[in-house]
Amino acid sequence: MGQITYCTAKESDAEKIVAFYNYVGGETSYLSFEKDEYPMDVEAQAESIRGLEGNETNIMLMAMDGEEIAGIATISSSHKVKARHDGGLGIVVAKRYQGQGIGTELIRRLIEWAKGNGITRRISLDTRADNVKAVELYMKLGFIVEGCRRNATLLDGKYYDIYVMGMML
Ligand SMILES: CC(C)(COP(=O)(O)OP(=O)(O)OC[C@H]1O[C@@H](n2cnc3c(N)ncnc32)[C@H](O)[C@@H]1OP(=O)(O)O)[C@@H](O)C(=O)NCCC(=O)NCCS
Repeated sequence: MGQITYCTAKESDAEKIVAFYNYVGGETSYLSFEKDEYPMDVEAQAESIRGLEGNETNIMLMAMDGEEIAGIATISSSHKVKARHDGGLGIVVAKRYQGQGIGTELIRRLIEWAKGNGITRRISLDTRADNVKAVELYMKLGFIVEGCRRNATLLDGKYYDIYVMGMML
């Protein structure tokens, strides 16, 4: 593995991004989608990335190992005036790249970006309460648990709580 670099997604990355999400969906049960269940195809992903150009409150940041995607973190905000200061965070790091600080660096960079965009005032996310690694990572970076949606996930006959987490900027 080489040096990890960080860059925002370009339209030409769409195919790689869809393949990455479909692959990591099968590596973890903590994402909302399973293997090959990522809801966008390449064309929809390209369209979505085009929509990020010049968008002040939405971003897709990639951690790259050369040409390979190691992880992706996003902030997505509503365009509605009353809600656009609240950015929703999503993150995944491929298994073989986990535990090396990439998740921390991706979120740190998103927080800095959000502080500088002049609009975002809080960052929100949902995570399964038993996703200890993710919960610890978020708390380390300043998020707190704001609420709990009990039994909100049902997986293989078992219920899991979802933490609603947030940080004010
Ligand atoms: C959660 C995830 C993004 C973390 O990415 P990562 O690159 O492995 O994270 P980092 O190496 O930067 O961070 C490690 C931090 O996680 C926490 N952590 C890591 N392993 C842990 C463990 N076994 N127990 C508790 N906390 C742990 C610590 O806070 C640690 O920080 P530290 O190294 O300074 O102590 C990654 O595991 C992942 O993609 N998981 C699958 C998908 C997922 O769960 N996404 C989040 C959905 S809400």
